[in-house]
Amino acid sequence: MIHCKSMKAVFRILKGVSYQQGQMFVLSHFHDEKLSKFTYWKNRYKEGNQEVFEWFVDPDEIVEPILNNIAHIQAQSTMPLRYIDIGCGLSDLSLHLTIHCPRPLSAVIVDFVSEALQYQNKSYVEYQQMIQLRSESTQHLVCADVLHLPFRDGGFDVAIDKGTMDALMKDKVQGHFKSGLMMGEVIRLLIPGGRYLQISDEDPDSRLLFLENISTRKHDCDERVKDNHREATKATTNFHEQMKLNHKLSSWKFKSIQSKSGSEYFLYWAERL
Ligand SMILES: C[S@@+](CC[C@H](N)C(=O)[O-])C[C@H]1O[C@@H](n2cnc3c(N)ncnc32)[C@H](O)[C@@H]1O
Repeated sequence: MIHCKSMKAVFRILKGVSYQQGQMFVLSHFHDEKLSKFTYWKNRYKEGNQEVFEWFVDPDEIVEPILNNIAHIQAQSTMPLRYIDIGCGLSDLSLHLTIHCPRPLSAVIVDFVSEALQYQNKSYVEYQQMIQLRSESTQHLVCADVLHLPFRDGGFDVAIDKGTMDALMKDKVQGHFKSGLMMGEVIRLLIPGGRYLQISDEDPDSRLLFLENISTRKHDCDERVKDNHREATKATTNFHEQMKLNHKLSSWKFKSIQSKSGSEYFLYWAERL
């Protein structure tokens, strides 16, 4: 039987009606370091607390700009577009993209909290029962750390990060370092011509500089940060190997997204060269 609330959600997705603004969350209002911690997210998503929750913007405010932005990628191919959501949380963005993308989507949805993936699975199954999702479209859920993604090089056409790097950056000591690691991983995963898209509330004046910086240079950090990182991740690979950016990105561009709440957000993107 279809849950009444789910029916409302389907209506929103199909008609492009917004979520209640009260459910959105503006990350910049939270300067709290806890947002960079696994334990915070684990507690937040624990069972019984798994309603849809969108950071920054509702999917219906961003799906069209995203689809326009990636329309040219592998446009001649008949294969599904290979897409990765980095830090999915309880967002329905990937579901919206699967529904509205004119091409089949092979989506990989990643988070380091298993409860977030349970939500994604439940949501996908509910929609599959209610509306016709393309049979060639697939969704794979992967519980992993975005700093060490368990995928081969060049396996994705598009990577989307809505609020995840912003959360990493809340770590006062390791924020930039972790963002650099994640950037390296995303660049590694993309095919040449593939795109990394980020949705953030941070102003381009500072964000563009930061993105350019971590996309192009090896990251200097003190030994304490490296040790913490090794300890936390039980990393066995050589640190400097991990930090090597063998592939390059184009320069970063952005587009302003005016949300219905009146706040301004930004879609940033760069292309793997
Ligand atoms: C600000 S929330 C954004 C969630 C979702 N993208 C959205 O738009 O609502 C950041 C998400 O990234 C996940 N995350 C943070 N650090 C991570 C890491 N190192 N590895 C994997 N996921 C991480 C958190 O669990 C959380 O779901």
